[in-house]
Amino acid sequence: DASDIEKGTYPHYMLKEIDEQPLVLRKITQRYQNEANELHIDDHILAAMNEADRIYIVACGTSYHAGLVGKQFIEKWAKIPVEVHVASEFSYNMPILSEKPLFIFISQSGETADSRAVLVQVKELGYKALTITNVPGSTLSREADYTLLLHAGPEIAVASTKAYTAQLAVLSILAAVTATSKGINLEFDLVQELAIVANAMEVLCDDKETMEDIAREYLATTRNCFFIGRSVDFYVGLEGALKLKEISYIQAEGFAGGELKHGTIALIENNTPVIALATQEHVNLSIRGNVKEVAARGANPCIISMKGLETEEDRYVLPEVNEALAPLVAVIPLQLISYYAALHRDCDVDKPRNLAKSVTVE
Ligand code: G6P
Repeated sequence: DASDIEKGTYPHYMLKEIDEQPLVLRKITQRYQNEANELHIDDHILAAMNEADRIYIVACGTSYHAGLVGKQFIEKWAKIPVEVHVASEFSYNMPILSEKPLFIFISQSGETADSRAVLVQVKELGYKALTITNVPGSTLSREADYTLLLHAGPEIAVASTKAYTAQLAVLSILAAVTATSKGINLEFDLVQELAIVANAMEVLCDDKETMEDIAREYLATTRNCFFIGRSVDFYVGLEGALKLKEISYIQAEGFAGGELKHGTIALIENNTPVIALATQEHVNLSIRGNVKEVAARGANPCIISMKGLETEEDRYVLPEVNEALAPLVAVIPLQLISYYAALHRDCDVDKPRNLAKSVTVE
């Protein structure tokens, strides 16, 4: 049928969509360039970014995890304070808003009811909103003042993959262009750095056998799995855990390395898989300290590091990219490991139980 044709030779949409990521990233870089090959964002959006004294990112699920990473781009590069909120909680715990807030809604589908409820609320208060979405003409796009498109192509698998990396890419471009418009010198060329990321993604997508081995080695029979990281690696770990639980039904949680000792370490048993991310130089030693702590309690650690930071104990070394952009690369093995874990456990990869691609009820 038609869906088979769209899947081509792929057994699942999820695998196809994982593989599309290098291409999507190149397409985004192209789409956001002007005739002079410089990164470019619509003037109205840039003006709104520059007027804002604080940005409020609102989203759900994977898009929320993209927001956590996006906050780092915007704060570090464009020097605008950012808060990131889960949409369903926003109205109960409405933060005291700054004088000139700008709201950014991140939503693959542009239809998520929880996010839309917040959009309606902030529009009523008279604030400006920007939607970052994969779907032109979607509800959140129509109802916001501005839209930035992901250009990722339709995402069919319930577990989001290419939309997440597309969201990170668009957020990085938004942050970098805003920084430049403020006269802030970033000391790197984002177009070039994203091209390096796309190549690194390709290397990872070509290394599926290793990912399958890791899934078999660590996740074939386990009941649970923990992801640890510090700084942005923590946020990527949250996304890795979400992927794994969504499609393999393994109880998976992401934790900040430093928080382990405050509770979670009590859960470590013999052979508990702990996937540790080490892509950030300033926390490399401390995350490795965490790995030693869990290993001493019987855990089965799987360290995924970035080239330049690796040691002999690492299970997988990612190709080197600009450290700030490491999440775009580090998430790919996590997506693939989740995919193979779900496959080995005979789960319905593209349509996991109890989940919907777009949730239009609050
Ligand atoms: C659903 C999907 C998730 C997604 C979330 C937000 O729960 O199953 O994969 O991350 O909605 O979706 P959105 O379309 O707003 O990004």
